[in-house]
Amino acid sequence: MKLNLNLNFLFYFIFAALLTGCGGGSSDSGEPATSTVALNNTEALGQQLYFDQNLSSPAGQSCASCHLPEAGFADPDRHFPVSEGVISGLFGNRNSPTTSYASTIPDFQFDGVRFLGGQFLDGRASTLEDQAKGPFLNPLEMNNTKEGVVVAVRLSDYARDFEAVFGSGSLDNVDSAYELIAIAIAEFERSSVLSPYTSKFDAVRTQGDVFTSAEQRGFNLFRGKADCIRCHSVGGGQHVFTDFTYHNLGVPANNDNPFYALDSQFNPDGSNFVDLGLGGVLNDVNQNGKFRVPTLRNIANTGPYMHNGIFNTLQEVMVFYNTRDTNPLQDPAEVDANKDILIGDLGLTQSEIDDVIVFLNTLNDGYIQ
Ligand code: HEC
Ligand code: HEC
Repeated sequence: MKLNLNLNFLFYFIFAALLTGCGGGSSDSGEPATSTVALNNTEALGQQLYFDQNLSSPAGQSCASCHLPEAGFADPDRHFPVSEGVISGLFGNRNSPTTSYASTIPDFQFDGVRFLGGQFLDGRASTLEDQAKGPFLNPLEMNNTKEGVVVAVRLSDYARDFEAVFGSGSLDNVDSAYELIAIAIAEFERSSVLSPYTSKFDAVRTQGDVFTSAEQRGFNLFRGKADCIRCHSVGGGQHVFTDFTYHNLGVPANNDNPFYALDSQFNPDGSNFVDLGLGGVLNDVNQNGKFRVPTLRNIANTGPYMHNGIFNTLQEVMVFYNTRDTNPLQDPAEVDANKDILIGDLGLTQSEIDDVIVFLNTLNDGYIQ
């Protein structure tokens, strides 16, 4: 199922490229208008690597399998709250985030007051280059070795493009070639293919388009009563709806996470596994349960939601923010310590919740005026 979707998209991608100038690349399903983007040679090479399903072991999974443009650059497979690796039955412990706008995430840092930035939901890779070296070697994802990846690139039909970008002989040494692969992928991730700024929100912001009244009410609530803006900020001129800081929302554990059932080689804690987020990386109990505030761009296309994929819809997300502390049936937090106390009792009515969701839908790229 996953394989078919990817192949279809790849076909669409190539086909759309052929149709440049004929309206190809934009569509009702909110895909970014990839056809109009001109990539430099390094970005174009990174794009080939990003979509190449021969870089996993066995072949069949690419970066795009879990970060597919048609699915808001997240995992199109909604059967599980987290993503299945190339070996069926093996799962990572987290929900695949979007790679769109990941290039706006600053390097991991402590700014004197708080931690911010870093790739992965717990910031454990400082840069996009560091991040890109992870999935190929992760047995729960692409399950390959450095050598396996580099040999596959040597055999690929874009091996020549690789040497054109990085020099002849650049694929000879496994370690240095692996570093260059990560550099090319990161360059592609920084291109406007992944950060096109083509949502209705952008059209309103920069092209004089106007929100419907429900969208405007939703935006006002987002910045007002619902207080989403406190963390999903639009500051810094980036308009990506995150301040890149870390918080524990008190999201409940997801009992449907298939990671719990993996054997002890992959999950030594079994059903007692707790995702400590930033606290696990820093080995600091004061950071337990905290995850980096994610972008909300393309959010309507990237469900399920939260680090463990516990919520299937934006409606469920909103009910959680609105009633975490007032609903007697609310499941306990996965990590109770360090919980943000200003959410959980927002007092939003159902129609206000609906308006916020209508606004969130204006953040999908591929909007046509
Ligand atoms: C099997 C699914 C899967 C595959 C394949 C995969 N990823 Fe991911 N990706 C994830 C998950 C899950 C996370 C979050 C993991 C975490 O926080 O520990 C993630 C995180 C990321 C992030 C960080 C985004 C953020 O908001 O922090 C980037 C960037 C990314 N992946 C790029 C890639 C690239 C590039 C490849 C190919 C080399 C790739 N991914 C392959 C599932 C996958
Ligand atoms: C205290 C900071 C904070 C506030 C306030 C906040 N969020 Fe979040 N938001 C986060 C963090 C942190 C996460 C990731 C949590 C996790 O994965 O456990 C998140 C996740 C989300 C997600 C899921 C993203 C994904 O890719 O899975 C959505 C949707 C969302 N927030 C929307 C909102 C809306 C709408 C509001 C206002 C009602 C809001 N948030 C208020 C910090 C915040």
